[in-house]
Amino acid sequence: RRPRVFVTRQLPGDGLARLAAQVSLRVWEEQLPPPREVLLDEARRSEGLLTLLTDRLDEPLLAQAPSLRAISNMAVGYDNIDVAACTARRIPVGNTPGVLTETTADFAFALLMGLARRVAEADAYVRAGNWRTWEPGLLLGSDVHGATLGLVGLGAIGEAVARRARGFGMRLLYVNRRPRPDLEVELGLTRVDKATLLAESDFVSLHVPLNAETRHWMGRAELAAMKPGALLVNTARGPVVDQAALVEALARGHLGGAALDVTDPEPLPPDSALLNLPNVLLAPHIASASHATRGRMASMAVDNLLAALEGRKPPHCVNPELFT
Ligand code: GLV
Ligand code: GLV
Repeated sequence: RRPRVFVTRQLPGDGLARLAAQVSLRVWEEQLPPPREVLLDEARRSEGLLTLLTDRLDEPLLAQAPSLRAISNMAVGYDNIDVAACTARRIPVGNTPGVLTETTADFAFALLMGLARRVAEADAYVRAGNWRTWEPGLLLGSDVHGATLGLVGLGAIGEAVARRARGFGMRLLYVNRRPRPDLEVELGLTRVDKATLLAESDFVSLHVPLNAETRHWMGRAELAAMKPGALLVNTARGPVVDQAALVEALARGHLGGAALDVTDPEPLPPDSALLNLPNVLLAPHIASASHATRGRMASMAVDNLLAALEGRKPPHCVNPELFT
């Protein structure tokens, strides 16, 4: 008998075709995520779930899913999943690190550049028919070259952003639980404390996973400690920033601007103050969204799921202790 698998959305690439050849597959075909009742019902009847970061897998769901023995999240982040609860029930959880590192760093840098040089505002200005002549003071922005970039988190994505920043002649500071002396030498990075990073950076870019320690890492006090006019880039997770405090810091003019690929909540409600601030550059959580990378993520998620269903350790497993 083939294991029953529920996939919570259509996926790019050929991963789903490979999966369909081996399991009894059901795919949620809508644009919006499956409602909670659907997810609960499918989890109750499935042995494998292939999920996205929009699907919440918590203890109440697991408690109703006695046959579930494989979970694969098509994302590097897995804050949507209660991993401890999965581990307690001996369910392996897969994720998709590595393949999206460079693509995500490209986009973090695109946001940084776009915010610094006001690319979206410039585009809107031209399209609105406002371009009358060359003006010495039109749409002035901030220089990227020569500026100081503070990286919050120096994992794979933070490192890939640092490589780009080095090419742009930026000075590089970082905070990270673990020192990275190899990179300090290779890329000219300096490990500093949080206060120094906030006080000295012209740009701060966030590259930490969301967990209990990083929730609201950038809070009211941290925003106030940032250099006046500094720019914030978030391609990590929305709740790493206290968004209400961010809106205040932007409205007061203390911060120069923010570029956000992730927000809290997602999507932003239509009345979010962020939508009316001109110095905010917004994107709908697309940092890993290149044709090639999304196909690879889907394929990797399928490989993780199939391994777990066969009782093998998924190639990328966030609770590998289940297999020791
Ligand atoms: C996207 O946000 C991911 O975690 O892959
Ligand atoms: C700008 O286009 C310049 O020529 O300075």
